[in-house]
Amino acid sequence: MMQNKHILIGITGGIAAYKICSLIRDFKKSGAEVKVIVTPNALNFVTKLTLQNLSQNEVYEGEFTPQNWKPEHISLSDWADIMLIAPATANTIGKIAQGIADNLLTSVACAFSKKMIVAPAMNCNMWQNESVQKNLKTLQARGIEYLPPEEGFLACGYVGKGRLCSLEKIFNAVDEALNYSETLKGEKVVITAGGTIEEIDPVRYISNYSSGKMGLALAKSAHDMGAEVVLITTKDVECPFRIIKVKSALEMEEAVKDEFDTADYIIMAAAVADYKVKEYSQQKIKKGEDTITLELVKNPDILAELCQNKTSQIIVGFCAESENLIENAKAKILKKGCDFLVANDISRKDIGFNSDENEVTILDKNINITKLEKASKSVIARKILEWISTK
Ligand code: CTP
Repeated sequence: MMQNKHILIGITGGIAAYKICSLIRDFKKSGAEVKVIVTPNALNFVTKLTLQNLSQNEVYEGEFTPQNWKPEHISLSDWADIMLIAPATANTIGKIAQGIADNLLTSVACAFSKKMIVAPAMNCNMWQNESVQKNLKTLQARGIEYLPPEEGFLACGYVGKGRLCSLEKIFNAVDEALNYSETLKGEKVVITAGGTIEEIDPVRYISNYSSGKMGLALAKSAHDMGAEVVLITTKDVECPFRIIKVKSALEMEEAVKDEFDTADYIIMAAAVADYKVKEYSQQKIKKGEDTITLELVKNPDILAELCQNKTSQIIVGFCAESENLIENAKAKILKKGCDFLVANDISRKDIGFNSDENEVTILDKNINITKLEKASKSVIARKILEWISTK
């Protein structure tokens, strides 16, 4: 639903600039108002006239025009509900990350405090450049979403990662962002993510395949929905909310307990190892006999403990099953005592661990079952949050 939404598109000087013409049409067809800012280099690839006709608005390039009493970089950022920069060159990404405001586009970006999405496109070697990657992390840490480029044939003749992601992806990301409701405003949401790491000795550990992507998607969505988010994760991430990095189940337990009393929602998306070694070896275990035995002891069941001690918190568990999904999930929600359980079928290669997509089934205490159709983890995350916050 884009009806009457204000989309501000920043186009920078890359060959993919021409693709944005059809994107503008798609936004217009969906009922949105579109305004376009170009960098001077963008006009080497598309003409102002084309963009003006498609957006049915003036195209902005210079910072100071006499017809407007408000400086353009402020009036445009006031006007927009969302800002999309596509294609975003390494140069513009770098400037925005550093707060440089040397043209209208970067000045607007500097003044912009609402949702911003950046879709980079560049040569594959530039994409891999350390500074470019660092700058993108800086943007992410500020809450700016970026849509990674795709692999393919690049205009410079190289084949590699750098091509602007599909217009469909950009359209969906904008659509999704525009339709966020602030349903979680004033709520504190604590989310765990990633597989715990149970150390054996200084060089070895037991862990699992959990990528932490589902938990991260939940955290980002909860943040976009206005919540105060605390993400307790075993993975390195850059985000505009509080992150507590942990390794083992015991560290995760401690961190969750610290946040528990003040939390409104706790979502245990982490894959907590059920067992850890009984005795951690301070020194590297040397190769010796043909077989060795590691004695494992149970880790605490964080979710079950939380459910036993809960006051007003809404507690959500996740379960990953490789067979009999619904039967196992039913047994698990009753055993753990959580308010909701989100069940994942990990036998499927197209969803779940490490994938960017997921398909889940939500169970509530009364064993009502709702299936969410396969979608990107961010769409699934948002649907889960909407579900649990309105039930
Ligand atoms: N969980 C937890 N502490 C553990 C194990 C799991 O808090 N020690 C949480 C997970 O974060 C998840 C839920 O419990 O939200 C279900 O995890 P799962 O591994 O499916 O459940 P288990 O109780 O470990 O059952 P099993 O491994 O036997 O299927």
